[in-house]
Amino acid sequence: MAYTVPKLKDFSPAALDSAVRELLSALEVETAQAGSAEERKSFRDRWLGRKDGILTQSNDLWLKAAPKEAKREVGQRVNKLKAEVEQKVEAAFRKAASATTRPSLDISLPGIRRPLGAEHPIIRTMNEIVGVFKNLGYSVAEGPVIETDYYNFEALNFPPNHPARDTQDTIFIAGQESKPQRDRLLLRTHTSPVQTRAMEKHRPPIRVVAPGKVHRSDTPDASHSPIFHQVEGLAVDTNITFSDLKGTLDHAMKELFGSDVKTRFFPSFFPFTEPSADVQVSCFKCRGTGRIGDQPCRLCKASGWIELLGCGMVDPKVLEFHKDNGYDPEKVSGFAFGMGVERIAMLKYGIDDIQLFFHGDVRFLEQFA
Ligand code: PHE
Repeated sequence: MAYTVPKLKDFSPAALDSAVRELLSALEVETAQAGSAEERKSFRDRWLGRKDGILTQSNDLWLKAAPKEAKREVGQRVNKLKAEVEQKVEAAFRKAASATTRPSLDISLPGIRRPLGAEHPIIRTMNEIVGVFKNLGYSVAEGPVIETDYYNFEALNFPPNHPARDTQDTIFIAGQESKPQRDRLLLRTHTSPVQTRAMEKHRPPIRVVAPGKVHRSDTPDASHSPIFHQVEGLAVDTNITFSDLKGTLDHAMKELFGSDVKTRFFPSFFPFTEPSADVQVSCFKCRGTGRIGDQPCRLCKASGWIELLGCGMVDPKVLEFHKDNGYDPEKVSGFAFGMGVERIAMLKYGIDDIQLFFHGDVRFLEQFA
């Protein structure tokens, strides 16, 4: 049975003592029972509520009801009781409240430190490469990572079933067989499709660089990754010659690796450039000598040269695709190049495993902060 304040027939000190004792023991029991926030609130209302709380009732039933000659005595006891009950109820209420709610703000505590991120070395290198060409007046273009066969191959003069496609280790998207071949989706194997997209959009003269992610179905090892990045370049104008290409790339390599590096161009093959070349830079570790002291240079495998990128003059067949947009191979010519960002970052920062770029290990990434 819940406690109720009894009416008193006897206002003697002994009767009052026992009534007060009963009330206080009821308070003790109910204090222990009030657990949840809701219970605590109704517990406080029940005891201290102005209108009908237990204290108000004891005031009415004991003090007000007391005969005149007992009023003084009863008044003193009821006041004492009131002070005691108020203090106990409030204390119980506060104690329970502070145990379940959050502590108040302590502004003397040290703050929570948010570690500052750092630019990923790939993004940083990519921006650096792009910056070199921006300074030469190039604009920046981008294209989708999921490409069609047309943009990745056909418009770059890789005809269907041509063996040159095999060099690209392509990751194809499944379930595309019902589409015509040129519409089938794949993960772009190089950034060269952005050349096509740029020539569709802008008439010559054009100078663009296209940074981005590419994929090839390579098994991961220290120098291969199925994900990597390239920066593509394309310049088309009247009278663009191979010496423009050589001068541009020689300048870019000096900007990236230091003004004392030399470049050399080796004949190569790409379906979308003719002639094509691989560009090598003189090894910046052994300064092209192939030796460090009396040891062979490991960076360039003692050759004195490091192969860095592919390039060439845009094949007239590629321009032909955009003849209606001003790219008449009889009137304009151009050059293109493509470089691997990971390889350049590895050489610049002395990183010996390409996988480090993709593991997200903060101990590695922190070094670039
Ligand atoms: N797309 C070529 C590759 O990834 C590189 C390249 C770009 C070569 C532009 C020539 C011109 O292998």
